[in-house]
Amino acid sequence: KTSPRMREVMTSLTRHLHDFAREVELTVDEWMEGVQLMNWAGQMSNEKRNEGQLVCDVVGLESLVDEITYKKASEATDVATQSAILGPFFRHDHPIREKGATISFNTPKDATVVYMYGKVMDAKTKKPLANATIDVWEASTNGLYEQQDDNQVDSNLRGKFVTDENGEYAFYCLRPTPYPIPYDGPAGKLLQLLDRHPYRPAHIHLIVLIQGYKPITTQIFDKDSKYLDDDSVFAVKDSLIVEFVPRKGDSQANFELKYDILMAPI
Ligand code: DHB
Ligand code: FE
Repeated sequence: KTSPRMREVMTSLTRHLHDFAREVELTVDEWMEGVQLMNWAGQMSNEKRNEGQLVCDVVGLESLVDEITYKKASEATDVATQSAILGPFFRHDHPIREKGATISFNTPKDATVVYMYGKVMDAKTKKPLANATIDVWEASTNGLYEQQDDNQVDSNLRGKFVTDENGEYAFYCLRPTPYPIPYDGPAGKLLQLLDRHPYRPAHIHLIVLIQGYKPITTQIFDKDSKYLDDDSVFAVKDSLIVEFVPRKGDSQANFELKYDILMAPI
């Protein structure tokens, strides 16, 4: 049975698709190229590769729906940590790791290890929130997430951390580096046809959850990274740009990042 929402969405989608075809005077050959691109995306997709999402991302659709979906949440508090797109490399099965543990098990020679730490707090009252979970994931310095790379152990550069009684979390990770999104499929083809580069600025993904608060899916971006103003998937927001600073007296890490996360009550 058709729900009212289904009717609303499909009516509008159909109208805009028809308007688009009329506006550019789309030909049969051009439409068929689009169909082939969709089919190619489907054929390429598997558990480790979400090509349909990548295609949406390079035309800014995921970033737009992220903004629409979480706009109300950020307006409500205007101080809560802003959201950013999930991207195609999340895994729901991150291992839980102890506070202060590392997520890097195949640390490359060219990597900079970072101690990342901070507090999860109520955005309004600044009350520390114990038992929040922080899912973190990032690519290695070769630009690959663990599931794209046979040379990384399972769940490398991924972890789930739980805040302690003071709302604090901490872990060692790698300073992120810029890298191209997968370029050998239809998303890459589109970028080539549009003379666009595939790079994303250096980022770390986070999902923060705690009962009674709006979930936050976000990314943080290195202030010194290239491509901050030219992200191939349009995810950068000013408030999500962070500064990694030198760390003294820690044999495990030469840099650190203090990052507090502000949650909006439901
Ligand atoms: C995309 C997002 C990422 O975080 C990433 O690492 C690669 C691709 C994307 O939105 O397509
Ligand atoms: Fe990413």
